[in-house]
Amino acid sequence: MARAVSVSLQKGGVGKTTVAINLADALAARGNDVLLVDLDQQGNATEGVGRKDLYETDGPHVGDVLTEDDPVDVHEIIHDRGVFDLLPAHVDLDDIEDRIRNSTFGILWVRRRIVEPLLGDDYDYIVIDSPPSLGPLSDASLIGAGNLIVPLLMSEPSVSGFERMVEQQVRPIRKEVDLDILAIVPNDLSGNNEEKRIITDLESSPFEQYLPSFARSDGFGESPGPGLRHRIAFSRAWRDGETLREYDPDNDMLDRLDQLARVVENGDTDA
Ligand SMILES: Nc1ncnc2c1ncn2[C@@H]1O[C@H](COP(=O)(O)OP(=O)(O)OP(=O)(O)O)[C@@H](O)[C@H]1O
Ligand SMILES: [Mg+2]
Repeated sequence: MARAVSVSLQKGGVGKTTVAINLADALAARGNDVLLVDLDQQGNATEGVGRKDLYETDGPHVGDVLTEDDPVDVHEIIHDRGVFDLLPAHVDLDDIEDRIRNSTFGILWVRRRIVEPLLGDDYDYIVIDSPPSLGPLSDASLIGAGNLIVPLLMSEPSVSGFERMVEQQVRPIRKEVDLDILAIVPNDLSGNNEEKRIITDLESSPFEQYLPSFARSDGFGESPGPGLRHRIAFSRAWRDGETLREYDPDNDMLDRLDQLARVVENGDTDA
């Protein structure tokens, strides 16, 4: 079943872009047709897959699709990026966000102009990298995808950011349209007691169902431990414009990214 997912959390630097890029790559490595969409004005996903050149393009870009007047066809702004395709961000995304805010149906544009025309026809999976701020672009990303993946640092501010997001964004959206939380992805773990405490707390909370099996506390006794671990290769791959798999094909986190891809394929953490 085709599925779009938004990688989102209203907190900076938790690993949204890292997870979005490498989830798109993992889904593609499993033989799916995949589109990575960069909806963050920072353009980190675009840069991290080696296409920074597209970020300031004079050619048609995401702003020509997310507009009221005579939008261009979404196919015109998609670029081939090896095993997956890329819909890049653009330096003008902040202005585009204002346009979404000021248009009656702007909030539906990601869904109507990007996801609906492509999903199931051109692509099996669409993975959207979302901005770190609460706002129309972030809402449009969640409404457009209908599925959510939340990367989470194992720190109190990160967890309370997630709880706030559920209250202020997920709940209100769910009153109007379907929005499923597919997974919480504990990220950047290095093996301290705080990480253990937070994962254990999550396991005894209503969010327990969203923890994939590779992210559970029973992994603490084993190597390399639960979650996506701190691996310098993630940032080096980004710097070189490569996915983790391209940069370091033997990295031990690739197996976890494959498990996350299976969660997305199955639409459930009990994959
Ligand atoms: N598991 C990890 N191990 C090591 N470094 C990581 C890991 N995950 C993310 N990073 C690094 O942490 C930084 C922040 O990650 P990333 O850009 O993915 O976060 P983000 O949530 O997208 O940030 P923003 O809110 O600014 O969009 C990057 O330099 C990235 O390379
Ligand atoms: Mg990011």
